[in-house]
Amino acid sequence: MCGIVGYIGARDAYPILIKGLKRLEYRGYDSAGLALVTNSDQLAVYKTKGKVADLEHYVLDKDITGSMGIAHTRWATHGEPSDANAHPHYSQSGHLALIHNGIIENYPVLKENLVQNGYTFRSNTDTEVLVQLIEYIMFTHGIDLFHAVQLSLTQVVGAYAIAVIERNNPNAIVAARKSSPLVIGIGEGEYFLGSDASPIIEYTKKVVYVNDDEVVCLRRDREPQFYNLNRVEKSHRIIELEMTLSQLEKGGYPHFMLKEIFEQPHTIRECMRGRVNVEHNSITLSGIIDNRERFLKARRIIIVACGTSWHAGLIGKYLIESFARVPVEVEYASEFRYRNPVLYDDDIVVAISQSGETADTLAAVELARSRNVFVYGVCNVVGSSIPRRTHSGSYTHAGPEIGVASTKAFTAQVTVLALMALCMARERKTLPQPEFEHLVAGLAAIPAKMEETLQVSDFIKKFSCIFTYAHNFIYLGRGYNFPVALEGALKLKEISYIHAEGYPAAEMKHGPIALIDQEMPVVVVAPNNKSMYEKVVSNIHEIKARKGRVVAIITRGDTVIKEMADYFIEIPPAEECFVPLLAVIPLQLMAYHIAIVKDRNVDQPRNLAKSVTVE
Ligand code: F6R
Repeated sequence: MCGIVGYIGARDAYPILIKGLKRLEYRGYDSAGLALVTNSDQLAVYKTKGKVADLEHYVLDKDITGSMGIAHTRWATHGEPSDANAHPHYSQSGHLALIHNGIIENYPVLKENLVQNGYTFRSNTDTEVLVQLIEYIMFTHGIDLFHAVQLSLTQVVGAYAIAVIERNNPNAIVAARKSSPLVIGIGEGEYFLGSDASPIIEYTKKVVYVNDDEVVCLRRDREPQFYNLNRVEKSHRIIELEMTLSQLEKGGYPHFMLKEIFEQPHTIRECMRGRVNVEHNSITLSGIIDNRERFLKARRIIIVACGTSWHAGLIGKYLIESFARVPVEVEYASEFRYRNPVLYDDDIVVAISQSGETADTLAAVELARSRNVFVYGVCNVVGSSIPRRTHSGSYTHAGPEIGVASTKAFTAQVTVLALMALCMARERKTLPQPEFEHLVAGLAAIPAKMEETLQVSDFIKKFSCIFTYAHNFIYLGRGYNFPVALEGALKLKEISYIHAEGYPAAEMKHGPIALIDQEMPVVVVAPNNKSMYEKVVSNIHEIKARKGRVVAIITRGDTVIKEMADYFIEIPPAEECFVPLLAVIPLQLMAYHIAIVKDRNVDQPRNLAKSVTVE
């Protein structure tokens, strides 16, 4: 939520800031702004409601000179999207400008004190209090900006990644972090900052991930300085990024979401690279091998996650329980963190998160840690907060996911969970060897089957336009494919704004069947797998008897459901437990094509943001 970017060096800051904002726009897009110390030594603050493109338009006739600046793209929390609430916020004297990602929880108290000391406020945001507080402390204590930021933050309760600049000092940006991500890019005589590395990668691969409660001073003429809030200097570790610029571009696709759907065969291969060896029938997941004893003795696994990652967690439960015979609970991180859960020393908490920054999942990790429970992370963004707070984990290696609706991250999460389940089964000796080998080969075959599955895109594009009339959809699945139904419904909701519900197919009779009539499209995930097939056929009969319109995801070669369904999409045969990795693809494509026909902004759907760093 909210993206921040900053630059100080010898180049013009404006193009770097605007490009950076475009890369971070997935984090929020209801208003945007920037502040520059211009060549005529003015502190210029430009901001507007709307997208980064609106900001570019707004500054057309403005002074955008200067080689130092900060910029922000917002996802509103306190205060509606408006020009006044857009960042940067500037101080009463007009000398300081500040951008912020996060939430200041005690802002009413701080604001009240400042008002009593003669400060007036221009916005309804929690953020503005920070810039006024820093200025107030600078003036009353007679100290410099760096020191004033440190002192101010000792009074602040909440989450923040901030950057502040000062009109009278065009040689320094001061930035700080607590619970919101902040990355510093180290160039040759120039420095960058960003909410993630995407605005930085074009200029340098050397980055430092700022730790909680650290304040950083970036000056043109010297090394960056990192301090904690008690003014103790901290050492910092420079990391070489593995990300490439092409991963952040659309590569010929009209949207990031479509590109990311089509990347899935590649991302799953990357996810399995070095971990799956079919010749030797082995699965090596270092996070599990390194913690073998814990996984051998685990009494229970508790998966915590939100949204799509929670759906992946549900599939993980089926996989781990079935292969490794360990009981698994799957919890919404937001519920887990607030309900005083019963946790045992020999539990393992698995936190799943694409961004690695989701506030509720991070808080769930902290809760588990505080109860001395071993926490394992399944995250995509390398160096993000959750992997840095877990005891061990496995990255999903899906590469940057920029479309706000998660696609390739989901299948990579399911793949890592399948690897965990197999690796645990191996260590715990819960699967007969032939079955284990069969499953390893089955998983290794999935990327090629994904390639086949993606060939249905044009067909889905053609029939999707038929359904744009619909105001509601039902998605049904059983067993491993129940979470796929949930995920299909979520994808449709978030990018087409059509109401959709996912259910276990058998639950339909307990209520949702009342909704079915000739207007209601029902998407049934109905692969030809032994354990559930007959039951799903019965469910389809029940829908057809009530004139519902069935779109069935079937296994290639199935003739029975083909006859019954109004529309069918074929996927290649696969082991039942790995079908979700294929069955979800047509559902992602359906959501995408329906949203396109409805002229929605698929990469940046309304009200959403990629990284939910607020509760
Ligand atoms: C849906 C989607 C969200 C995220 C959720 C968790 O397409 O993207 O539901 O899955 O906000 O995000 P992460 O995985 O970053 O913790």
